[in-house]
Amino acid sequence: ARYRRDWPTVEVPDRTWPAQRQTTAPLWCSVDLRDGNQALPKPMDQQRKLVLFNLLVEMGFKEVEVGYPSASQTEFDFVRHLITHDLIPDDVTISVFTPARPELIERTMDSVRGAKTAMIHLCAATAPLWRRVVFDIDQQAVLEMTIGSAVQVLRLADSMPTTRMRFQYSPEVFNLTEPEFALRVCNAVTETWSASADRPVTINLPTTVEASTPDVFADQVEWMHRRLERRDAVILSLHPHNDRGTAVATAELGLAAGADRVEGCLFGNGERTGNVCLATMALNLFSVGVDPQLDLSDIDSVRRTVEECTQIPVSLRHPYAGDYVYTAFSGTHQDAINKGLRAIQDVAAHAEQDAGTVPWDVPYLPIDPKDVGRNYESVIRVNSQSGKGGVAYVLASQYGLQLPRGLQVELSRLVQAHADIEGDELTSKDVWELFAREFMHRR
Ligand code: KIV
Ligand code: ZN
Repeated sequence: ARYRRDWPTVEVPDRTWPAQRQTTAPLWCSVDLRDGNQALPKPMDQQRKLVLFNLLVEMGFKEVEVGYPSASQTEFDFVRHLITHDLIPDDVTISVFTPARPELIERTMDSVRGAKTAMIHLCAATAPLWRRVVFDIDQQAVLEMTIGSAVQVLRLADSMPTTRMRFQYSPEVFNLTEPEFALRVCNAVTETWSASADRPVTINLPTTVEASTPDVFADQVEWMHRRLERRDAVILSLHPHNDRGTAVATAELGLAAGADRVEGCLFGNGERTGNVCLATMALNLFSVGVDPQLDLSDIDSVRRTVEECTQIPVSLRHPYAGDYVYTAFSGTHQDAINKGLRAIQDVAAHAEQDAGTVPWDVPYLPIDPKDVGRNYESVIRVNSQSGKGGVAYVLASQYGLQLPRGLQVELSRLVQAHADIEGDELTSKDVWELFAREFMHRR
């Protein structure tokens, strides 16, 4: 290969992250309205942003990055609209994003005037490639600029005593930054903002561009977690992007390595390959019995709203949300699912008597589709690769018809032949009509 990228590695003696399992939900922050929005071909207008904001609040997000107010009038006006129309619930903190530039900071701070609570998210690039190629400045200049910006934010915040201000800092492309330098800047900002246990500062570590395997990132997180000077006064946050397709693993290992909070977007919207998908992360937790503290009990309606607002469709195979993810087309899978569903129904019947809970033990289905508002009807679909189990299941579940085994075999042959000719899947109605046509007249 002509090109390669080196990533910073750190030695983490006695690392703890493989052993730690997530037993509670992390703090979530949705960046759908900022990172997600800035990556849309058609950025959201005020109306769409509001619909998405309301959805996020209903789902249970307590921190929502609502925009990048210095980027456009629409962005600025949206923040003003939320505040002047009193649309932010008391237990929700809005966050606004700003680069470390005096005039942009000024504009950003103006946008939150009058808010009850607001988080100012300051970002400065620290990675060597950005310093050299984008900004042409050295480490010392980055450090001074960042501290200067943090001081400006604090000064302007102090001039708005009725707003409870919170502060967040992101060293951009943390994962490609020399660890010692990232630590130095984060400690300096934390000190400038006088972080305390009562008023913690959020230090957000982005994999702005994913560049390594998730274990390398987890080492970087644990290294910071152990060395931050005021760890007791810091909320350690992650902001993974998905360039290598490993954002979820990166976030999960980063949490195991000591982080407290994750920023991402629903269904992985965001720059390029997107931010980490928070729906996937939440339901991964749910699938192992941890309450994610986000309501995804009607995932289709969440998905519809996100699709309408972003105008980007969710992939058919998106974890937990895609059209096909609770569906089995092949006969062997259909048969196994059928057996599993029957078995847990038996267990559930006993558990009701014993008032116990039932483990979800169904082959090929990681969660009960009902838990996200999907239903069993869509589980079994019939095409040329389906076996007799699938055909029998469709007739039994939709038409209450229990076919004897011999008839199941005969009908499934017919169904397969028919689907082969059509080259498409058959609906339950097609299967029923075939059955009626071929077998109903027999006595
Ligand atoms: O990806 C990123 O680094 C971000 C900010 C946190 C700057 O979106
Ligand atoms: Zn980002």
